[in-house]
Amino acid sequence: MAITRFAGSALQADAASRSYDGALISTDPPYYDNIGYSDLSDFFYIWLRRSLRDIHPNLFGTMLVPKAEELVANPYRHGGKGEAESFFEKGFELVFSQARRAALPEYPITVFYAFKQSELEKEGIASTGWSTFLDGMIRSGWIITATWPIRSELPNRMMSVGMNALASSIVLALRPREATAPATDRTGFLDALHNELEAALPKIREGAIAPADLRQTILGPGMAVFSRYSRVLEDDGSPMSVKTALALINQTFDALQNEHDADLDADTRFCLDWYRSYGWNTRPYGDAESLAVPLGLSVEGIARGGVLTSGGGKVTLIKPQDLDPKWDPANDDRLSLWEVTCHLARAYAAEGRETAARLMAAVKDRVGLDEVNRLATRLYELMESQDAPTAGLFNGLGGAWADVSATSATLRSVAVAETLFGGDD
Ligand SMILES: C[S@@+](CC[C@H](N)C(=O)[O-])C[C@H]1O[C@@H](n2cnc3c(N)ncnc32)[C@H](O)[C@@H]1O
Repeated sequence: MAITRFAGSALQADAASRSYDGALISTDPPYYDNIGYSDLSDFFYIWLRRSLRDIHPNLFGTMLVPKAEELVANPYRHGGKGEAESFFEKGFELVFSQARRAALPEYPITVFYAFKQSELEKEGIASTGWSTFLDGMIRSGWIITATWPIRSELPNRMMSVGMNALASSIVLALRPREATAPATDRTGFLDALHNELEAALPKIREGAIAPADLRQTILGPGMAVFSRYSRVLEDDGSPMSVKTALALINQTFDALQNEHDADLDADTRFCLDWYRSYGWNTRPYGDAESLAVPLGLSVEGIARGGVLTSGGGKVTLIKPQDLDPKWDPANDDRLSLWEVTCHLARAYAAEGRETAARLMAAVKDRVGLDEVNRLATRLYELMESQDAPTAGLFNGLGGAWADVSATSATLRSVAVAETLFGGDD
C-alpha cells in the first residue's frame, strides 16, 4: 500500500483569537504564572533574529517576541496579581469555548496538564490548580472522558522523589457536551459514579497502570460522569464544585476498594486488620489473638500459613522482603490472598517477570488472580505513607500485571503441550 507523505507546516497564532474550524486539537496549554515563556524567549529571539530574519520575515518582524496576547498571569503586565489571574482565566476559557464551537464530532481533543510537584505533594490530585483547570474546560462546554497519567517530564526530579511518585503529567481527552445535556442532583451523580467506576476499575487494572497512578486514572471515568451533566445540583440547589466532585470520586474509589473485603479469605482479613493496627511491629501474642478469634482463626493456624511469626509470646507479620524465596505453593496447604500477593510482589521485584509468572501459574487454580491484582493496589495504598519501599513492591507488581499474566499464560500453555505431547521430544 502506498503511503502518502505530507510535509508538516507550522504557523504562529494567538490561541484565544484564531479559528479552530476543521482542526484536530492536541494542546499543552500554559498555566497561570508557571513560566514566563515570552520573556525567556527574548533571550534567544534576539540572536535568532540576526541570522534568520531574511528567511522567516514574518516570524522575525518585531524587535522582541509578542507579549500582549500571551496567556500567562503576569502581574507586571496586567496591573496586579488579581487582574493577571483574571486575564489568564478569561483567555483560557476563550480558547476552550472557541475550540468547542468548532469541535469535530468524530474525534476527542487532547489536553496536557503538568502538575507542579509541590502541588501534588501538598494537595494531592484534588489540588486547587488542577480543579480550576478542569472547571475551565467543563464550563467551556466539554466533557472530560479520560485522564491518563504520563511520565514524560522531569525524569531527574521523578527519580529523586522515588519510585512511587505520582505521574507529574496527565493527558485528558475531551469531547463536546451537547447544549441539551440534562442536570442531576447529588444522589443521581453518586449512583452513576458508583456504577461507572465499578465497571471501569477492572478494565483499568488489566492495563499497565501502576497502583500509584490508579487514582489519577480513575478521575477520567469519574469526571466523565460529572461533566456529562449540564449541572450537578447540591441539596440546597447550588451547583456542585469540581473540587467536591473530585473528593466524591476519591471516596467512591475507596468504597469500591473496600466493598470486596467481605469476600476476602479470613487469613487475609486478619493480615489487613493487623497491618492497619500495628504495621510491621512485633506485638504481644494477646493482640494477635484478639484479632484472630472474631474471624474464627487461631494465631498458630495463621502462622502455619506462612505470613506471621509467633514465638515467645510475640507475634510479627512477615514483610514481603523477608519471605522465603524458595516458597513453593505446591507444598503450602494454607494459601491466602495476602500470602500470594506478597510472594508475587517480592518475586517480581527481586527475581523478575519470569519467576513471578511461574508462581502465578502455580497458584492460579487456588486463588482468584483478579483478587490478587486488586489486593496489590490496596496494599500499595495502605502502605504508601508509612513504608514506601514495601509499597513500591506492590506498585511494581500492579504496574506489571498485564505483562506477568501474559508470561504466565505462555508458561501454562507450554506446560499443557508438554503434558500432551511429552516434554522431551
Ligand atoms: C506548556 S507550554 C507548551 C510547551 C510545549 N509542549 C513544548 O514542549 O515545547 C505552553 C505554550 O503556550 C504558548 N502560549 C502562551 N500564550 C499563547 C497564546 N495566546 N497563543 C498561543 N500560544 C500561547 C507559550 O508560549 C508556550 O510555548
